[in-house]
Amino acid sequence: MDHKYELVAHRGFNFIRGIHDPDDVDGISKLEMRDSDIFVVTYPKSGTVWMQQILLLLEAKGDMTVYSVAKMPCNGDLVPWIEVIGSREAFLTAPSPRLRVTHLPYHLMPAALGQKKGKVIYVARNPKDVLVSYYHFHHLAKMLDTPTSFEDFFEKFLRGDVFGSGWFQHVKTWYSHRDDIDMFFITYEEMIHNLNVSVKKLCTFLGKELTEEQLADVVKYSTFSNMKKIPQANYEHVSDDLFNHHMGRFMRKGTIGDWKNHFTVAQNEIFDQVFQREMEDFPVSFTWDMTDMA
Ligand code: A3P
Repeated sequence: MDHKYELVAHRGFNFIRGIHDPDDVDGISKLEMRDSDIFVVTYPKSGTVWMQQILLLLEAKGDMTVYSVAKMPCNGDLVPWIEVIGSREAFLTAPSPRLRVTHLPYHLMPAALGQKKGKVIYVARNPKDVLVSYYHFHHLAKMLDTPTSFEDFFEKFLRGDVFGSGWFQHVKTWYSHRDDIDMFFITYEEMIHNLNVSVKKLCTFLGKELTEEQLADVVKYSTFSNMKKIPQANYEHVSDDLFNHHMGRFMRKGTIGDWKNHFTVAQNEIFDQVFQREMEDFPVSFTWDMTDMA
């Protein structure tokens, strides 16, 4: 990790000093919301940038000139993070619709969401694949500690000793508020399995009207193979201060089940035990494997 950055706990959540500021974060819960506000909420490495892409394309009705028109260097400029330094201030005066992404837990988000002001799209991904993706991302991102080994990172992840804290808590808490807020819950795996259907469902949830042709364009430019070629989706313009660009690309593998190439049998058993214990009372049974979905 670059010395400018440091993992810090604030109000029950791990942030990164240098990227997040506690005062900014504390102001988020008091933000006034508009009905047209949309938040994409994820635990890190669950498909945030993918949903950012779908959202910005739905807004632009599938028109890729959205990037050149807005003169934006990356997806994060078009659909910014609400919790990074300066973002809250910009949110106050931004024109509608305000599209934002966040990794924040429920208790730090605008309380007005609870009055069904604004919409939330929650994307969940198999935590085993999240762990693997996050491990690789820790090599790419300078604001995160480079892991000494996969074993070490495995333990840190299960302890929630990472930016975003624990995966289990994040998903469980957000899901428990599904009836309090206007929320659309989807998994990364559902999106992989059928992007077409996922985009259509999302479009209905957002109350947007796109032609079949426009929807087809949204899907086309949101596939992994196409996003891999889009510099803005790959954060290629992000400064070398933030990313070790030589360590890999943001669009890394984009698959289901890469954990099988990383976990030992023993690690998988430990993970399963923790998962069962933590998710015992969770009302949804996830389908993580493509084969199970067919
Ligand atoms: P991998 O590292 O497993 O490839 P986030 O945006 O939340 O940081 O998540 C990043 C993960 O989402 C990366 O996973 C990335 O490749 C994957 N991803 C991004 N766009 C995708 C797409 N269109 N299809 C499939 N996976 C995608």
